[in-house]
Amino acid sequence: MARLIAPSVLSADFGNLQRDIEMINASNADWFHVDVMDGEFVPNISFGFPVLKALQKHAKKPLDVHLMIIQPDRYIQAFKECGADVLTVHYEACTHLHRTIQAIKAEGMKAGVALNPHTNVNVLEDILMDVDLILIMSVNPGFGGQKFIERTLDKVKAVNQMRERSGASFLIEVDGGVSDLNANKLFEAGADVLVAGNYVFAHPNPMAAIDAIK
Ligand code: DX5
Ligand code: ZN
Repeated sequence: MARLIAPSVLSADFGNLQRDIEMINASNADWFHVDVMDGEFVPNISFGFPVLKALQKHAKKPLDVHLMIIQPDRYIQAFKECGADVLTVHYEACTHLHRTIQAIKAEGMKAGVALNPHTNVNVLEDILMDVDLILIMSVNPGFGGQKFIERTLDKVKAVNQMRERSGASFLIEVDGGVSDLNANKLFEAGADVLVAGNYVFAHPNPMAAIDAIK
């Protein structure tokens, strides 16, 4: 099992974005987690293509782009051009999820599907062999710094069992409220990638916070 850390740029200091990107470059983090919010799918607007282009310019690790937007199919090519390596869409935002996943892969990106806290993992049963990553939201999407929902651990275990049973090879990612208090439990439950925003960037020593999660 991989134990990857993806700091969430949403919690970075946007006045010092290059400094924070270089901190992640120099740290033991594995990916940049990039949260795109449209004010429709979630009650918040984060940032768009100009910020992604700045990230692309300075980041030396893969860009893990989490789309919290409606009708993501409209922008798949644009995110590829901004350097997305993994592009994750929400199950709840996609009417034709299978088609969306194929379109992401056709652009040469890894395709991820995210589930909100209320969505049962069984809805992914028929798409397990098609996805590269399943993202289990451990908070309601829209904001950093929220409290981890404990029920997530059971969902991660269930998705891990689905993976073993099916022989599929997707990664399991957990996003929201991750800290040194729950990271180990999540990895042991089967998670491969942990996103951490507030825990890393509010920490007096962000690089040590990344190491603490690892
Ligand atoms: C929430 C975002 C998360 C968020 C995580 O909607 O998808 O990636 O930035 O932040 P923390 O770790 O602060 O909960
Ligand atoms: Zn996210």
